[in-house]
Amino acid sequence: MKLARKSINNLAQITSIRSLSSGIEKEKADCVVIGGGVVGIAIARELSLNLRRNVLVIESASTFGTGSSSRNSQVIHGGIYYPPNSLKASLCVRGRRLLYDYCKEHGIPHKQIGKLIVATRYEEVPKLNYLLNRGNENGVEGLKMMDASEAMAMEPQLQCLKALWSPSSGIIDSHSLMLSLLGEAESHGTTFCYNNTVVGAHLEGDQIYLHVSETESLKNRDHKSQHCPDILLLPKLVVNSAGLSSAALARCFRGINRGVIPPSYYARGCYFSLLNTKVPAFNHLIYPIPEDGGLGVHVTLDLDGQVKFGPDVEWLHHIDDTSSILNKFDYTVCADRAKKFYPEIRKYYPSLKDDSLQPGYAGIRSKISGPGEGFADFIIQGEECHGIPGLVNLFGIESPGLTSSMAIAAHVATKLSRSK
Ligand SMILES: Cc1cc2nc3c(=O)[nH]c(=O)nc-3n(C[C@H](O)[C@H](O)[C@H](O)COP(=O)(O)OP(=O)(O)OC[C@H]3O[C@@H](n4cnc5c(N)ncnc54)[C@H](O)[C@@H]3O)c2cc1C
Ligand SMILES: *[C@@H]1O[C@H](CO)[C@@H](O)[C@H](O)[C@H]1NC(C)=O
Repeated sequence: MKLARKSINNLAQITSIRSLSSGIEKEKADCVVIGGGVVGIAIARELSLNLRRNVLVIESASTFGTGSSSRNSQVIHGGIYYPPNSLKASLCVRGRRLLYDYCKEHGIPHKQIGKLIVATRYEEVPKLNYLLNRGNENGVEGLKMMDASEAMAMEPQLQCLKALWSPSSGIIDSHSLMLSLLGEAESHGTTFCYNNTVVGAHLEGDQIYLHVSETESLKNRDHKSQHCPDILLLPKLVVNSAGLSSAALARCFRGINRGVIPPSYYARGCYFSLLNTKVPAFNHLIYPIPEDGGLGVHVTLDLDGQVKFGPDVEWLHHIDDTSSILNKFDYTVCADRAKKFYPEIRKYYPSLKDDSLQPGYAGIRSKISGPGEGFADFIIQGEECHGIPGLVNLFGIESPGLTSSMAIAAHVATKLSRSK
């Protein structure tokens, strides 16, 4: 059963402790989660449900989940690709199991349709063997190598030389997931505060002061002028789960050791959908061999069977920290990029017709390693890393962040469970 969402408080409407000492309103809080994406929502749920904390989620947009959490492939990943013992490997496998259980228990639309990773050139076959071994090491269930005829019998439109079958992969309606997690968080006392942006923070002793402004008042903000926040929040715990902006925001925390904050990189990924498909061209997820920065232009299916292709990788340059915090991201899909999609897709789907792709949507990957730099793990930093009690920073929560969300939340809760 879903609970009706409570009316949403606006920070400006909360009136309790006021202090005029610095001229800016101050507000005490137990626990503040910055960012209402799937990860922030899962953390808020976990902290309110299992640690019984009083949680306030601050989200700069006018509602939850408008960032990467609604701009992804909606794939529940097995956990194959990531180095053994990395956070990505362990939180993906654990998160996937938690997610399937949660979906079943709460009626979240999802399908465990399985996925084929395909080699289309002979040079790629050893890479499939490598992925098989890696997946096995990571504890991914049921992986199986298939020869071309077996894979092509499962997917008549597919052309490949060999394939790795991952039966635990699936698809999920991420919006329904977020709505359900959010409803549970709210029914355990979490308040979601939209239209408010955390613009920085400072420390007084061990106390964190978060600087918060109404997003609207920041719209015309001049990059260079000093901005005075509308309110200072004094929480016991802070979780920085600001997605694309989390590292940029951490760099605006006065008193934090900047040496522990990774650099920010942004890589846009566009999707194109397949026109006029009465019968879905595919019934399973089809992935090529991974490329630098992403998993390759792959086939994903919506829960209603609509086929889409993507995401490609386009590194975005010149996004400064202020633009990032103010959420100035460009999500337009340039129809021109389809030109690059056709040859990529035809490697495994040769009968793709000309002009059959139409622009879909775009998402931006929250990266902490740049082009050609290779693998970077999720970073989840507590006091042991930056020395500030009660603060957890999350950096580089790109794919498989949706799959891992509930395991990330449990991991953060463990870090904070000893806090006052
Ligand atoms: C193209 C693409 C495809 C992907 N495909 C998959 C997939 O198939 N499977 C999978 O498991 N994962 C996938 N991912 C990864 C997944 O989408 C992310 O890991 C996940 O959504 C991250 O959630 P989040 O809550 O950390 O970030 P977000 O959803 O971006 O949420 C962060 C929130 O913080 C808010 N915010 C930012 N700055 C501030 C501030 N200063 N103050 C207040 N609020 C702020 C933002 O408005 C936003 O709502 C994909 C990602 C991309 C980009
Ligand atoms: C947030 O701002 C939008 C306009 O930018 C407004 O329509 C909406 O009502 C606001 N939401 C809240 C909760 O104040």
